[in-house]
Amino acid sequence: MKTKHLVTGAAGFIGSHLVDKLLAAGYAVTGVDNMVLGKRANLAAALKSPDFTFQELDVNDADAFRGCLKARTADGPFETVWHMAANSDIAAGANDPDIDLRLTFLTTYHTLRLMQEFGIRQIVFASTSAIYGELQGALTETSGPLHPISNYGAMKLGSEGIITAALERFLKGAWIYRFPNVVGSRATHGAIYDFLKKLKKNPAELEVLGDGSQEKPYLHVGELVDAMVFLFQKSRERLNVFNISPEGSFSTVRYMAEATVRLASPGAKIRYTGGNKGWVGDVSKFQYSIEKLKGAGWKPRLTSNEAVELAIKENIENLN
Ligand SMILES: NC(=O)c1ccc[n+]([C@@H]2O[C@H](COP(=O)([O-])OP(=O)(O)OC[C@H]3O[C@@H](n4cnc5c(N)ncnc54)[C@H](O)[C@@H]3O)[C@@H](O)[C@H]2O)c1
Repeated sequence: MKTKHLVTGAAGFIGSHLVDKLLAAGYAVTGVDNMVLGKRANLAAALKSPDFTFQELDVNDADAFRGCLKARTADGPFETVWHMAANSDIAAGANDPDIDLRLTFLTTYHTLRLMQEFGIRQIVFASTSAIYGELQGALTETSGPLHPISNYGAMKLGSEGIITAALERFLKGAWIYRFPNVVGSRATHGAIYDFLKKLKKNPAELEVLGDGSQEKPYLHVGELVDAMVFLFQKSRERLNVFNISPEGSFSTVRYMAEATVRLASPGAKIRYTGGNKGWVGDVSKFQYSIEKLKGAGWKPRLTSNEAVELAIKENIENLN
């Protein structure tokens, strides 16, 4: 009998790639998503698998989520929840703090509550570099103090906190993965996605928020889900915290804008709005140490710029 896994945010960008990866790894998977950003088309391949079921629901609607878990545990319990549902629009959370409270923190809170109720004792959590705030240098899993500068980062850090607290109560294992910027097909947001949308509307000019100097590591979603499943299978501590990132490389926003123009709309003029931040709460520069990740036996193949180029090509196809 295949072990059963539940993915929240399953129809979103990373969630849908994760579903595909978990099915390929031989697990039985149930996905839930409220379809605010998720798309059924992202699950087209998964929906053909007899090992996949999907239910549209809001994780914060405890009755609906409970009903789903009840129905789908009739043939055996879930082993692990992969909690991907959250707000993915960091800038939106700067204007309305309710967004990250509800979508980034309370989704984790409600997921944990129901996991306890249904005796599900393993969680894999999508955390973020945003929890580190503006710490300088190559960030390790023990870097601190942790002072996020966005509501999104704060609510992710709060989520990490209630996960580790749940380890004291009922969880037997937690995997907290701190993603960098993730790019690839089925993107629902992010700089490449925005650039391509803008160029589709106006192929002659690309407006870029900031001055293009922001520099961050970008990881391809295919590599991300590979690392997530690898670490889940290989690292079996009670608490497993990992930064996942390309090694020693990053991409500037200028590089991303120029590459998008080159590949999608050659000759378009790039206009920078100025300032070294894209939006309030944007961490304009950071870098990760991935020594722990490599020590666990996983190494990225693509550099940040290679991941960016691949993602631009994939998303041009998406848009057409
Ligand atoms: N993409 C990145 O660069 C990045 C970086 C760091 C962390 N993350 C985290 O990874 C996870 C996945 O992000 P993504 O980039 O795929 O974003 P996404 O918006 O494509 O995916 C999130 C999915 O969750 C769903 N969702 C939101 N609220 C929900 C709710 N209350 N109930 C049910 N479903 C809900 C959305 O409809 C969406 O399909 C998120 O937790 C995000 O914070 C992403």
